[in-house]
Amino acid sequence: MDEIEKLKAKLKEINARAGKIRELPVEEKAEFGRKINAEREAVLAEIAEAERKSLDTEVEPIDITAWSGVNEKMPEFYSAEMGSKHPLMTELDRVTDIYQMMGFEVMESRQLDDEFHMFDSLNFPKEHPARDGYDTFRTEEGLIPPAHTSTMQHRVLKKYKSRLDEGKAIAVVVPGRVFRNEDVDATHEHTFYQCEGVYVSKDCTMGDMLGILREFFEKYYKQKLNIRTQPGYFPFTEPSLEFLIEKPKSLGGKKGDYLEMLGCGMIHPNVLKMAGIDPTKYHGFAWGGGIDRLVMLRYGLNDVRNFESGNLNFLREF
Ligand code: DAH
Repeated sequence: MDEIEKLKAKLKEINARAGKIRELPVEEKAEFGRKINAEREAVLAEIAEAERKSLDTEVEPIDITAWSGVNEKMPEFYSAEMGSKHPLMTELDRVTDIYQMMGFEVMESRQLDDEFHMFDSLNFPKEHPARDGYDTFRTEEGLIPPAHTSTMQHRVLKKYKSRLDEGKAIAVVVPGRVFRNEDVDATHEHTFYQCEGVYVSKDCTMGDMLGILREFFEKYYKQKLNIRTQPGYFPFTEPSLEFLIEKPKSLGGKKGDYLEMLGCGMIHPNVLKMAGIDPTKYHGFAWGGGIDRLVMLRYGLNDVRNFESGNLNFLREF
């Protein structure tokens, strides 16, 4: 029994004895009452003192200004650890920094878009099965959380087309969060990040595009890389390509181990026309690819789900 319990038992015993006052002769009642009250008060004081002591030793007063790392006695749930930037955001900055060094401007994407920007402005024929290939989510109002950053192409072209009349080029990258109604596993997420690139000028060529992409990947992985392309299909580019890099040895790759990093191609004349740009005067190329995959390769990560999981053990590794 701890001290407080013992004192409470003593108090009970005193109270029980106090009841006997009724059986005493009148002349003894006053003296007995005084004694028993004194005893009771002494015990009550002892209990109060013991309780105060136990509070002092068991519970630290909470200093709300203290960082929990300084005060080890503070329970875990008072933790006020400093937050940090999400690794994907750090890498997105790295990505846009590289493009900015190459002369590109950055325009932000959005997290809710519409049928026109998702499909029509990108030359997807109405009712065409290619529209189903993007596993789009839809809100009850018929809006679309973008399934790729290409939804921004039309906006970029319209916003910057006056540059072309001034004899300049349109050179813009658009990082953004994208959403697909997919089954989630180690390599597929319903929510991930992409970065889109759009370039338009009087005389640009596919060779310029491949040069820009090679430069980007070599800067991002800080080494020379072997690249390769293969035919692809996107309604908004003609011709369309898939762009691959050989997985570097330093990142666990073997010779001939090529990874598809993004889709790209020469912007389809209809896409330029819809934005009010004359495709007989100007040419453009565009590309778009996942950021998550880029980052996973850089750090040797194998589960894309960690990025959206809020798993602190994972996030603390960065
Ligand atoms: N938006 C395509 C995707 O998510 C990738 C892409 C392909 C973007 C070709 C482009 C492009 O800008 O020209 O699969």
